[in-house]
Amino acid sequence: MYYPFVRKALFQLDPERAHELTFQQLRRVTGTPLECLVRQKVPAKPLSCMGLTFKNPLGLAAGLDKNGECIDALGAMGFGSIEIGTVTPRPQPGNDKPRLFRLVAAEGLINRMGFNNHGVDHLVENVKRAHYDGVLGINIGKNKDTPVEQGKDDYLICMEKVYPYAGYIAINISSPNTPGLRTLQYGDALDDLLAAIKNKQQQLAEQHHKYVPVAVKIAPDLSHEELIQVADSLLRHNIDGVIATNTTLDRSLVSGMKYCEESGGLSGRPLQLKSTEIIRLLAAELNDRLPIVGVGGIDSVMAAREKLAAGATLIQVYSGFIFQGPPLIKQIVTHI
Ligand SMILES: Cc1cc2nc3c(=O)[nH]c(=O)nc-3n(C[C@H](O)[C@H](O)[C@H](O)COP(=O)(O)O)c2cc1C
Repeated sequence: MYYPFVRKALFQLDPERAHELTFQQLRRVTGTPLECLVRQKVPAKPLSCMGLTFKNPLGLAAGLDKNGECIDALGAMGFGSIEIGTVTPRPQPGNDKPRLFRLVAAEGLINRMGFNNHGVDHLVENVKRAHYDGVLGINIGKNKDTPVEQGKDDYLICMEKVYPYAGYIAINISSPNTPGLRTLQYGDALDDLLAAIKNKQQQLAEQHHKYVPVAVKIAPDLSHEELIQVADSLLRHNIDGVIATNTTLDRSLVSGMKYCEESGGLSGRPLQLKSTEIIRLLAAELNDRLPIVGVGGIDSVMAAREKLAAGATLIQVYSGFIFQGPPLIKQIVTHI
């Protein structure tokens, strides 16, 4: 109802400043009775996926709450799951500003944040304080200054620290903003990483007497052939789920628009069809042997339905939430 006014004010500001201000306010209310200010009632649409029960299929995608600072406030808005992170073992500042751009006419965003975060220990402290009763995903990555050949160690460090507190763990090997990260999506590098992650998961499951599923988040810029190889590798290593997709490097749908030449990943409406196509191809390869979390340009009930029809079991939003705010959550959960 009131989001159009809030958005009008926020969109006057630099995008990252708008994010900081919003989070300042959300931090004030999160975990307090004032949470009622952002609370909205959405219908229960429970489903089970990766061995977990979700209140509804719509989740918040990674990158909005990188440090897990506003889990309860975001949860109060009706998300069935919230994916916090990407978090890295050590804190890091991310890339120089400006690093986030709105392509308003296209309802898209370009970002090259570069995993700015306060480190995994800080995130875990925030998670311990949260009371959110939905599924909490924790998305992990590697530090920029960790050589990509040793990237595996960073994932294992984060896994060990977040395991007791995560509903599921998301392995981010698809951000375009950490040099070399996407090379982990291919061939031996992927097999090697997944084998180590699976091994660590088994060890942690015994240690903590609970099984926390692991999902891998992939890029939309993979060729069909590469996608087939990724799907095969995920199945061979018994990974629990796949999140498709991260942002794209493709600018074909926004060419000529202001900011379209900025480097980074493009998200929002211009990513919608591309990510749906990836989900469709993945679903054909996976044949229901592994659930897909569909993300990329969901901005309406129709777009959400398209992701589900293409083969996603769960869906997530980021950019659509920036452009349309909490009413989008209610609309989607109510009508899908
Ligand atoms: C500003 C911004 C920061 C993001 N940061 C992360 C991140 O840290 N980790 C991650 O896995 N995805 C990150 N993403 C990608 C989103 O989680 C999502 O996969 C992508 O934006 C596509 O969804 P959308 O079109 O609904 O935004 C980020 C996206 C944006 C716009």
